[in-house]
Amino acid sequence: MFSISILVFSLAAAAYRLWRSLAISKDSGNHTASRLKILERSHETGVALSRLVEHDGAGSWPPKASHGDWPSELLPYHEIYMEMIPLLSSANPSLNNDVNIKRLNRFRSLLSKKLSERVDMVGVYELLSSIEAGNWSGCCREAFNGFYCCIAVLRHSYRWAVIPIVKVAQEEKIVDFPSQIDMPWAYLQRHFGVESDSGSNTSNVLHNYNDMGERAYKININISEAVDTTEDAFFRMFYDVEVIAYPMYQDMVSANIAFEQGNKKECLKHMQDINIRLRELLKVFYQNLVESRVAKGMWLRYCQGFQAWGAGRMVDGEYVEFDGVSGSHNLCFMVLDAFLGMKSYMNEQNLCRYIPRNQRLMVATFRKHSFFDKLHADNDQEISHQFGKIIQHLKVFRSAHKNRIMPYLAQPAPERMMMTAGKSFNEPSNDAAHLKLLDNMLVSRLKDTIAVASKLLA
Ligand code: HEM
Repeated sequence: MFSISILVFSLAAAAYRLWRSLAISKDSGNHTASRLKILERSHETGVALSRLVEHDGAGSWPPKASHGDWPSELLPYHEIYMEMIPLLSSANPSLNNDVNIKRLNRFRSLLSKKLSERVDMVGVYELLSSIEAGNWSGCCREAFNGFYCCIAVLRHSYRWAVIPIVKVAQEEKIVDFPSQIDMPWAYLQRHFGVESDSGSNTSNVLHNYNDMGERAYKININISEAVDTTEDAFFRMFYDVEVIAYPMYQDMVSANIAFEQGNKKECLKHMQDINIRLRELLKVFYQNLVESRVAKGMWLRYCQGFQAWGAGRMVDGEYVEFDGVSGSHNLCFMVLDAFLGMKSYMNEQNLCRYIPRNQRLMVATFRKHSFFDKLHADNDQEISHQFGKIIQHLKVFRSAHKNRIMPYLAQPAPERMMMTAGKSFNEPSNDAAHLKLLDNMLVSRLKDTIAVASKLLA
């Protein structure tokens, strides 16, 4: 019986790997690059997509990143993360505050020591300043993207110091980071146009994958196989949706162009392609956020806590707190909403804190050019029908997401207080109230989506 389940699991894993490689190869390479050039010349949304790909993506999307194959000034950071990470998580979290404080201090002092002994701050400063001045001769964009991830995960590991995360760390509201991970962070955040002290889906997740789709900076080493597989499957979803979304963004640009040119037949074709891609994209969520791939007991303690933040700093005499990484940072859902002309899920302040400038600009441009409201009931029935299908897909996703995530968040973790990665608040006096608050946010977004559907029918 046991060997049959292993066989079934291995076959499913092999099928999944095959699907991924097909999804990646289908639209990669010259075809996508040349199509992008044409779109860039033809429409403002094409310009925004092209800017994102060239500047932030190192010529591709999801962004290209390399890890460790870097200029010598940056290399110590990669080596230090790799050395420190086996010390971060433990199979038996303690409930004793004194024990946890000792562990936290031990991890932080060792990390600080390694950083101060091995990072040449002047060298790093000169390299980053020269990149900021537009000179990329000392570092390619791919390496810069990988470095962004490395500094982000070093900061998250310093922030928590103990995985599963513990109450004593959650209670710390201002963390004094070593200058070696503060100084480059300021450069990186300025470059990408993001304001938060914490990482985001872009820095911590997308930039963590190399060209082969392998993740460089793990959180847990040698805890258990179940933790390894959960960690891999969970983060992979956020990368895989962007793999499928890239050609979908191009179809959206093409649909805009065709609609504005009055070429309804061509526009319909692109709308149909968008729906085909969207179905595949959502399958990533439906097939992977299941117990057999992302185990609830492992996820909350070993994957989610690291990505949270819940700390801040004083700005002009006022305490400003930052959240951690959230699913709401996913570019594809922001673009889909914008394509429908929906208002953003995140407010302006959070967009500036967690979403890189070029992603924000692209989303805003798609919203500006949304032709959803320009459809005519009589003449554009087929295109309207395709919009209806997109909305239906989003409704089903939002409803499934809301229902599936709650048991993940409700997992027991007595060593910590309840805290999501994307929303740090812990005002509600009990866990049920906390979950209710999150549920309300998701219900409200589902209602917004249903409201768009009713506009279409009207
Ligand atoms: C165990 C897994 C997950 C949990 C516990 C979870 C939890 C949450 C929570 C609590 C929110 C609302 C608070 C916030 O804005 O941060 C949220 C929002 C969101 N999540 Fe997730 N999430 C999970 C997985 C995913 C995955 C795999 C995706 C997509 C691939 C995703 C996409 C989104 C999106 C797009 C939003 C913004 C709301 C919306 O557009 O409907 N989440 N998530």
